[in-house]
Amino acid sequence: MSTGRRVIGASEVSDARARQRNVIEVLPGDIVTAEARDQAERLGIKLVDGPLERPEPVRTDGATAARRGLWRRSPRWVAPSNRISHSPRRFTKIAFIGAGGVGMNAAHLCANAEMAHEIVLIDIAPGVAAANALDLNHASGVSRARTRASGGQSLALVEGADVVLVTAGRARQPGMTRADLIDVNRRVIHAAGAAIATHAPNAIVVVVTNPLDEMTVEMLRATGFPRNQVLGMAGTLDSSRFRNALAMAAKVDTRDVEAITLGSHGDEMAPIVSASRIKGRPLDVFLSAEQIADCVKDAITGGGQVVALKKTGSAVIAPAHASVEVMDHLRGARAGTVPVSVMLEGEYGIDGVVLGVPCHLGETGLIKVQELALPDDELAQLRTAADAIRARLAE
Ligand code: 2OP
Repeated sequence: MSTGRRVIGASEVSDARARQRNVIEVLPGDIVTAEARDQAERLGIKLVDGPLERPEPVRTDGATAARRGLWRRSPRWVAPSNRISHSPRRFTKIAFIGAGGVGMNAAHLCANAEMAHEIVLIDIAPGVAAANALDLNHASGVSRARTRASGGQSLALVEGADVVLVTAGRARQPGMTRADLIDVNRRVIHAAGAAIATHAPNAIVVVVTNPLDEMTVEMLRATGFPRNQVLGMAGTLDSSRFRNALAMAAKVDTRDVEAITLGSHGDEMAPIVSASRIKGRPLDVFLSAEQIADCVKDAITGGGQVVALKKTGSAVIAPAHASVEVMDHLRGARAGTVPVSVMLEGEYGIDGVVLGVPCHLGETGLIKVQELALPDDELAQLRTAADAIRARLAE
């Protein structure tokens, strides 16, 4: 039975926009998510406290009234004209430093979506990048994608890239934590960062190499770039794993789940239960506290589960999709905020460390960190994660 309370999320705001509405009526008891407020501001939609006064219905004959009613009430009705113009940017060039599992899968997704005119793959292993680029071009005869790929070993191939996705470095083996990779991958990041600073000084760098938060700090140091230009991809991956776990537990589609994971890309990951929704409603409407705790655990251990099964490396498909989600936000193909690891400058009361937080992204990288009103325990989780990353970097 409906309690009458509604959760107004970002999708309700987008839906209102698609129906060419400028105002959303917020009734007493309705919950408006931070994402919805944010989306409303972006789309120029007013959230107005209701109930609003309504004009007397126009009296007319039955058939016209029925047509008007259907026209107004169908939740699926979308205006056929005056559609919002939506043309995401196509990058001139995306460079992938690391053409292994994640780099190659991400390049494949980017090529198929024609996200750039040109893709360049770079890998230290002789022949790998060139072979994968050739393979991608061969697929274009079927996919008809116009993106052209090339590949080689030299880091100088990043020349002129708009975006550089860095996946190079060692992956975890069973029994290793991501933090065990700090020393070996720090060297890789510094070599990549130096080349990017020289050959692609305006590029937005998306770091995927582990341990993610620490390597994003190293990339900032190696390039000397401002914080807007260096982003770490982890939150989109961890949130995807959290959504999948929630959807499976509640036996619903992942489309029915909104969930976000912040904090570190490691043991101090913070799946944000307070901001998560299933079919627009809080998680405890569908799941017991124990089930929710299991889903949180599943998100935190998801990467490790893949490593344990594979025995020869880590996940590649979900990380590639999650990397492309970040790129889609950079090019304006997706609206709203996205969880990304960025250097914090006082947001959430944290300063001088990289941490996963909801961000607005655009052509110039980070536009703004969105500060969600989090309950004390979730805020404490973020601060614990920040302290742990600081401590690991200091070791
Ligand atoms: C993962 O969680 C690659 O760290 C990455 O699968």
